[in-house]
Amino acid sequence: MSVIEEIRTKADIIDIVSSYISLNQSGKYFKSICPFHSEKTPSFIVNPDRQSWHCFGACGTGGDVFSFVMRIESIGFGESIKFLANKTGVKLKEKDNDLKFKELYEANLIALRFFQDNLNSKNAKYANEYLVKRGIDTETARMFNLGLSSGDLLSYLKTNGVKENTAESVGLIKKFDSGYRDFFKGRLMFPIHDWKGNVIGFGARSLDDSIPKYVNTPATSLFDKKSILYGLNLAHGSIKKSKKAIIVEGYMDVIAAHQKGYSNVVASMGTAITKQQVGALKFIGNEFILALDADFAGQEATLRSLDSAWELIGNSQSLNKKSFSNGNNTPFSLKIAEVPQGQDPDELIRKDFKKWEFIIDNSEPLIDYLIRILSLKIDIKSGEGKMQLVKNVFPLVTSIDNFFDQDKYIRILSKKLEVSESSVRSSFSSLKNNNNDYRKKGDLHLISNLNPKIEGQLEKYVLCLLLDNPEFKEDILEYSPENFSNSEYKEIFIRWRNSPNIDQLNNNLDGYLTNLLNELLSNKPVSLDMKQKKHALFECLNRLERDHLLELQKEILSTKHEKIPPPRDLEDKIIELNKLIKKSFLKR
Ligand code: UTP
Ligand code: MN
Repeated sequence: MSVIEEIRTKADIIDIVSSYISLNQSGKYFKSICPFHSEKTPSFIVNPDRQSWHCFGACGTGGDVFSFVMRIESIGFGESIKFLANKTGVKLKEKDNDLKFKELYEANLIALRFFQDNLNSKNAKYANEYLVKRGIDTETARMFNLGLSSGDLLSYLKTNGVKENTAESVGLIKKFDSGYRDFFKGRLMFPIHDWKGNVIGFGARSLDDSIPKYVNTPATSLFDKKSILYGLNLAHGSIKKSKKAIIVEGYMDVIAAHQKGYSNVVASMGTAITKQQVGALKFIGNEFILALDADFAGQEATLRSLDSAWELIGNSQSLNKKSFSNGNNTPFSLKIAEVPQGQDPDELIRKDFKKWEFIIDNSEPLIDYLIRILSLKIDIKSGEGKMQLVKNVFPLVTSIDNFFDQDKYIRILSKKLEVSESSVRSSFSSLKNNNNDYRKKGDLHLISNLNPKIEGQLEKYVLCLLLDNPEFKEDILEYSPENFSNSEYKEIFIRWRNSPNIDQLNNNLDGYLTNLLNELLSNKPVSLDMKQKKHALFECLNRLERDHLLELQKEILSTKHEKIPPPRDLEDKIIELNKLIKKSFLKR
């Protein structure tokens, strides 16, 4: 039995989940308020038979005991194994896994030292002048471990015991026809750490304004751009203490802010903030300020990022978090600080520090910001424009728990749109009704009772087919990993999709999964021609999807047997599931 299987037999999902939140039994299942988003009616269901959980509310996601722990503790798959092994007393051997990661961090750390030494050497006059020009003092450069990529990195790595393929797998060197070459040559190096301070990758800026301005470590098993917050290693303590974080876009912005004493600033790596990033911050803070440029591009980026961010943070509802590790009972808030046109925080901090302090201190709550910005972009003189604005802020306003606060925004909208409060209210209720329209046409009965207990086999078979036929990758980019019920299969599926080849997949996988991967690789599916293989693959994927949906439907319908009717959004979910299930039958 593998460690994963052993843990699965010993860790009862009911025990694990109820060590975080209190569960109420409801028929065969257990229910609670979802610990991952704010809600009033319980839509979080735990199924002891399948040892699974699912949130039928805003999260719309679920999984097994491993994925629950990953989510609630904000840790990766490998960490969740350690965590649960510890809880259940399963002994882990000091595995290849730990060693593998240690080796990768170590390679990056050795490179960091090499880059740093370069920057401190006499030959780095130009780079040091550049730092002076950018206003970065020596102490700050040291604090951020800035460096310079010059000289012979490869031989330095070798003399320090780093193997070529290790260096390649963390993206430090790249293989060309002529052999391995330094990936970042000639650039100013910004080491990137995880919150614990492990070096996971680098950002590298050109010193001569050549393009691209920055080259970053490519996706590796350590470096996943979506979940990195630059500067979090330095800002973590300060955010945890003050519960406040400021999020900017760039490396330079973080550095300038820290140099001036704003130690709670992190950067989203240049793109719109992702759910993973918000998720990581949510565990240590509750007041977030996004500092973003006021120019048009900035606004677009902001709107996009808010779209995903607000979903997670909710608006002003307090989350029942009493049993969480950070014992945090305060509602989350998300505010926007607008940096003047054409500037970024770095420039503003250097040129007009008072102004920076002012915009941070006077940052605007998200809803107010959206109302203001959208009314500049939309023609709110027209009826259509008015409706468009109301539609955009409606979900945020209605997610406010407090009736008086909701009222405040209705008043603000009525002023802004130059209409009466009562017509804002009517537009809200018509939006509410529209949302529920399909309920009337839908049906609430259980479509089918299919429940084959072979999903583990199906999942394995799908993975064997995929591993054997990389050319199918394009066909399944859209396929939801949620349909895999075991975390280990889900993990392999996701990583396979993101890896260019099996070697990289092996590198990207947590060490605990190496054995399972080898087992899958050695299990060549019976000889089928390409067309048959593809057909088999889609049959199985479709079956997995259907089984998953049917299980969910059963769970959700269980709430119908109670005296209290199912909450409206659950009803909606049942109807939606029915539609999906019908569709999956049609696909056959
Ligand atoms: P910016 O263009 O605002 O860079 O991109 P910056 O940090 O202000 O740098 P300076 O002031 O021009 O030197 C913001 C962030 O977007 C990512 C980097 O993380 C950067 O800090 N980025 C930008 C890239 O990854 N690649 C690029 O080519 C440009
Ligand atoms: Mn800049």
